[in-house]
Amino acid sequence: MKVLVVGSGGREHAICWKFSQSRNVERIFCAPGNAGTGTIARNIQIAADDVAGLAQFAENEGIDLTFVGPEAPMEKGITDEFNRRGLVIFGPSAAAARLETSKEFAKEVMAGAGVPTARYEIVHTADDAKRAAEHFGRAAVKADGLAAGKGVIICTSSSEILDAVRTLKDQSLFGNAGDRIVVEELLEGDEASILAFCDGKTATIMVPSQDHKRIYDGDAGKNTGGMGAYAPTPVVQGLEKEIHDKVFVPVLREMSRRGTPYVGVLYAGLMVNGSEFRVLEFNARFGDPEAQPVLSLLETDLLDISQACIDGRLGDIDIKWKAGASCCVIAASKGYPDRYEKGKIIEGIEDAQKLDSVVVFHSGTKTEGGNIVTDGGRVLGVTATGASIKEAIASAYDGIKLIRFDGMHYRTDIGKAVTGRS
Ligand code: AMP
Ligand code: GLY
Repeated sequence: MKVLVVGSGGREHAICWKFSQSRNVERIFCAPGNAGTGTIARNIQIAADDVAGLAQFAENEGIDLTFVGPEAPMEKGITDEFNRRGLVIFGPSAAAARLETSKEFAKEVMAGAGVPTARYEIVHTADDAKRAAEHFGRAAVKADGLAAGKGVIICTSSSEILDAVRTLKDQSLFGNAGDRIVVEELLEGDEASILAFCDGKTATIMVPSQDHKRIYDGDAGKNTGGMGAYAPTPVVQGLEKEIHDKVFVPVLREMSRRGTPYVGVLYAGLMVNGSEFRVLEFNARFGDPEAQPVLSLLETDLLDISQACIDGRLGDIDIKWKAGASCCVIAASKGYPDRYEKGKIIEGIEDAQKLDSVVVFHSGTKTEGGNIVTDGGRVLGVTATGASIKEAIASAYDGIKLIRFDGMHYRTDIGKAVTGRS
């Protein structure tokens, strides 16, 4: 079968890598891809959100299954367009992807489904903002639409809340994302990412993972797309079934009831405090970097799972996971998450890959004059598996230490807070 993977990050490299192990996948295409996907797939120069261009390509090439990595094409209706043309695609419709693309919608669905989440208010006017600021005192202030992970401001006083609302209202910062603002109660605890494969009715949860969103060690500095992740995380140990029953099952039921069944990967970002958990956000896709450790541990063929989701028979599939753990450490460019440098020559990828159990997933790279050069803020995700989380972390760091590029930066404490404690 011919598979097309849409996207160009570490998540998409990991998806291509997993498909490359499928006994039924003959050829993989990646649009637009990066230097890493180019080693196992044919990179196609079509932008990830060029829905018409991708559909045309899939028709011309006779693609059997398209797998969508990022949210932007989902918001643009890639699944709807492919379905209209009779093309097979894995990923939610634009209406279902609103669980990610509109925070207000996600809150409405959670309220309808009885899913535990932070209390919130939608702010339209300056008066609303004042009322919410006084009511909450401490809050997470969020732009309603997609803002590439940078649309959330954590506030610990009423005046900070008012400032944050003003900042997000500034259209130039987030385009339309700042039109509507959600102010919600500030939650405390440990974060975990639980992802599930969904076929509209059934959700099968994956091995739980934990991302590290801040740029520096000790969770200091600015929020990023994610500087590293590991799985399984002990944060939700023993809570998986309850999370399945109280989050995924009711959300799928509510989405079906609304006439927009959810098919694809659904990602719940949770705040966990002891045995209590609440949903911070939904994403309509694999997380990046969570996909790298999670897919490293997936035993079952991703093609079989994708097809079962599309056909509505996920319940018939027994999804298996490898024993042990996996850890991904991101190497970032100097300046990230703000303006960063590009075009720096990367060395040592092959040396790192020679280590047992290490796979280097590319995030922002391209080939130039025979070299692999940096081409994004997040550049590589050095990923390793091991018998325990500690072992996986140690191997990932052994790998990243062999890699060099000008201005390279990485966190040295991925997984440490949790493994240090347990
Ligand atoms: P979101 O895009 O909604 O996941 O928010 C991004 C990050 O902001 C989360 O990963 C949390 O670290 C933080 N955050 C969001 N909402 C809250 C909340 N209600 N309480 C505490 N932290 C939050
Ligand atoms: N790692 C968080 C995300 O993919 O949104």
